[in-house]
This record gives sequence, structure tokens and C-alpha cells, in this order.
Amino acid sequence: MKKIAPSIISADLLNLGNEIELVEKAGAEIIHIDIMDGIFVPNITAGWSLVEAIKEKTTLPLDVHLMIDKPERYIEDFIKSGANILTIHQEACIHLHRLVERIRELGASPGVAVNPATPLSFLENIIDYLDIVLIMSVNPGFSGQEFIYSSLFKIEKLHQTISENDLEVLIEVDGGIKISNIAEVSNSGCDIFVSGSGIFGTDDYDKTIRLMLDRL
Ligand code: DX5
Ligand code: ZN
Repeated sequence: MKKIAPSIISADLLNLGNEIELVEKAGAEIIHIDIMDGIFVPNITAGWSLVEAIKEKTTLPLDVHLMIDKPERYIEDFIKSGANILTIHQEACIHLHRLVERIRELGASPGVAVNPATPLSFLENIIDYLDIVLIMSVNPGFSGQEFIYSSLFKIEKLHQTISENDLEVLIEVDGGIKISNIAEVSNSGCDIFVSGSGIFGTDDYDKTIRLMLDRL
């Protein structure tokens, strides 16, 4: 069951409750929340109080994407605030396995995100512990960037490994997803599609999400 996860980074933040209601009505099944610290990525967004506030507005699962250095400092805060999926970056963690186990212990689904230049080889010893692998199809930090095409091959390769080994893990893609490329990305074997400007940058979210769903 493939799902659309609007990234609220591109929403009208002063009108966020309403924005979430609109994408939910249109058929989005996950809300993606980007947390940036100005160190791991060259941009700053918000902390866990935003997750807490969104949790009160929606029953959809909250997918919190931590683009922060040393995420071990804050995983508990984000999970207590309502993160259902907590994704950390491979590049930001020294003790990845320990953190993944901790996320599960605290009751959330662990995900690991992979930057465009990071090879998938590190997954060999961690994939069995994950619910989600998040393939970054832009360099993290900003919404509205161009989709990096080599991500498609990464998704295909990962999809093949997952099917060959009968693994439970889902593939999520994040960055530059739009109506125009979602079919191709879906065909490469992706399960969850994050889209920020591809949804919130359009006039009619309902129409956009329905068109996206049709192409999956
Ligand atoms: C990038 C973020 C993404 C991104 C999505 O660092 O993780 O979630 O902002 O925005 P679009 O879909 O506009 O690339
Ligand atoms: Zn993200």
C-alpha cells in the first residue's frame, strides 16, 4: 500500500492546522515533519513543540525526519511529543544500531535516512532492524530542490535487495517529488512518497494528491 506523505516544511505555517486538514482530506496518509538544526544541514526549522502541536490536530501518523547532529540527544523528546516514525541520518550517527534499537524501545518505528552521496552498503548490518529506509533524492536542507535522478537507481537496487531477502522494510523517498515524476519513482519500487513544494506549492492540494495517488 503506497502512501503520500506531505512535508509541512512547504505549507503555510500560520495556517498549519488547516493545511494538514486539507491534505488529509485529499488522501495523504502520513504527515512528514522536517527537523533541521543549522549544523547537520544549512537550515533551521523547529523543535519537538511543533510535533506536539501537530499531534493535537491530526490522527495521521507523524513521520519526523531528524536532520540534526547527534540525534541521540533528542530522540526521546520527539517520540514523547508524538512521532510515530522517527528517522535519523546515517551520516549523523556514530552508534546507529544503538539508536535504532532505542527508537523502537521508546515505541516508535525506526527509519534511517541516506544522503544522495552515501552508498547503500552500510545497510547490510542494520537493515534487519529498520522499518523504513529513507532515500534522500535531494541534499537535505531545503524544500523546492530538483530531484536527483541517480536516486532512482538507488531505490531500484534497494527494492531488489528487499524482495530477494524477503525483508519487511519500506522504502521512502524525499526531495523533489512532483506529479510529473512520481510514477517513475513508484515504478522503481518506492513505498512512501514525501512531497513538500510538489503539494503545498500547488493551488489545489486535493487535485494534486489525487493525481499523485493515481500514478502510484
Ligand atoms: C529536505 C527535506 C524534504 C523537503 C521536501 O531536506 O527533508 O522533506 O523539504 O520538499 P520538496 O518536496 O519541495 O523537495
Ligand atoms: Zn524530509
